This record gives sequence, structure tokens and C-alpha cells, in this order.
Amino acid sequence: MLAIIGGSGLTQLPGLHITRREVVRTPYGMPSGALTFGELDGHAIVFLARHGYGHTVPPHLVNYRANIWALHAQQVSHVVSIATVGGIGPELRPGRLAVPDQIVDYTHGRETTCADYGNGDMVTHMDFTWPYCEEMRRHCMTALAACGEDYLDGGTYGCVQGPRLETKAEIDRMARDGCAMVGMTGMPEAYLARELGLCYAAIAASVNWAAGRGDSQQAISAEEINHNLEQIMGRVRAVLVSLARASYPEARPGG
Ligand code: HPA
Repeated sequence: MLAIIGGSGLTQLPGLHITRREVVRTPYGMPSGALTFGELDGHAIVFLARHGYGHTVPPHLVNYRANIWALHAQQVSHVVSIATVGGIGPELRPGRLAVPDQIVDYTHGRETTCADYGNGDMVTHMDFTWPYCEEMRRHCMTALAACGEDYLDGGTYGCVQGPRLETKAEIDRMARDGCAMVGMTGMPEAYLARELGLCYAAIAASVNWAAGRGDSQQAISAEEINHNLEQIMGRVRAVLVSLARASYPEARPGG
């Protein structure tokens, strides 16, 4: 089954025919909200609002472990994360969508593993060379193409701590590091999905030029972000309907 994690601007999925809601308790505490099960264009999916249904949980306080564990416990096999970003490279102007293929993690102090080290779990170093699941990236790109989107295939997602936006110098550094976009929620979400065997990819929506780029030379305009967010999420909803039509196994391979 496909899970959709909605980010800013996507706390609900209009068009989702809801069948049930489930509050899932996890060994890591409570997820951002109840899981919403339903059908999108007749296809079963589960939806979770990353920041809570009232958009009250900031990026650095999201319980990523509980969110991913809860989806994993529902036999979810594939996950698409919807993430708003600032565009750093010229290829990611506001309004454009991307399916990133790399990550640089600048966050700190977040719980980064579901392994219970210190309580007997063997130390493991899991491969993360390519942090996104290629199969899910392909599903995303097929859906984007079906909706006529001029999307970016690839690009490095730089994940910052938030909740503040960045300085110009920080964005300059991220550009030198090769980041095409900056967001606040990609990590540890992507790694936890890998750890729990979920095929995970992200659709990133550029809602502003990053600090010191394009029309954000002096400041990032909250009005611009909100305007772009509304416009882009309308398109993202259409992409999600298309994405739900692909076939996903009923259960996770191996469990
Ligand atoms: N920086 C960090 N996260 C973001 C931005 C940004 O400019 N825009 C949307 N999410």
C-alpha cells in the first residue's frame, strides 16, 4: 500500500474518500496525528500530515520515528513525501517540482534511528549511498509526466534544522556543497524509511527562492511562499491521484 506524507500546505487531501482513521501508538511515542485510510480515485492509500492536521508541529519537533514506524506497522510498502523547499540552483525556480536523488543532512539533535542501541541491538551501518528508493522515484516521475509537469529529475536536497530560514551565507555554502534545494523535513525521515524497509521518495515543491537567490536577495517573502504554496499544492494533489493509480504490493516485502 502507498502512504502519502503531506507537508506544509497539504495537511488534508480533498478527494480522499476516507474509510477510517487510526491513532497508532509506537515505541517512540505518538505520530504527528492519526493515520487517515481511504481511497484516492478508488485506490487504497494512507495519509499522514507531517506537521499535524492543524499544522502545529514544527520541523525540528516532528516525531519522525513515530511517523515512519506507524506507517511501517500498517504494512505500507511505498511512501511518497511531499516537501516544500526553497530553490537554490537556477533549475528550481518557485513553482517547479523536483524528485531529488541525493541528500545532505545539516540537522542536529534529531532522533536518527529506530535501532535500540544500548539495549542489545547489534550496531549496524546501513547503506545510504542513494537515499531515495529508485522504484518510488520512477513512480513519482511517471505521475508528474502524466500531469504535464515540467519537473526536475534529481538534485540534492539539503536538509536544515529550522524552524528559522537560512542566511545568505548558509545558502552560499549549501550551493558550494552541491545542494539544489533547501528544506527542513527530509531527514531523518528518508533514513528511517530505509531502516524500516520502506520504498521512499520525495516530491519537492519549490515555493520560494532560497535566501540571497532570485527575488530573495533582501528577504524571503512569506506572502510569496503562501501564494505559491496554494497554487502548487493544487497541482500536487492531481499528481497524487495519478500516483495512487500505480500498483503497490498490499504488504511490505518480508513482513
Ligand atoms: N528554506 C528552508 N526550508 C524551506 C524553504 C527555505 O527557503 N522554503 C520552503 N521550505
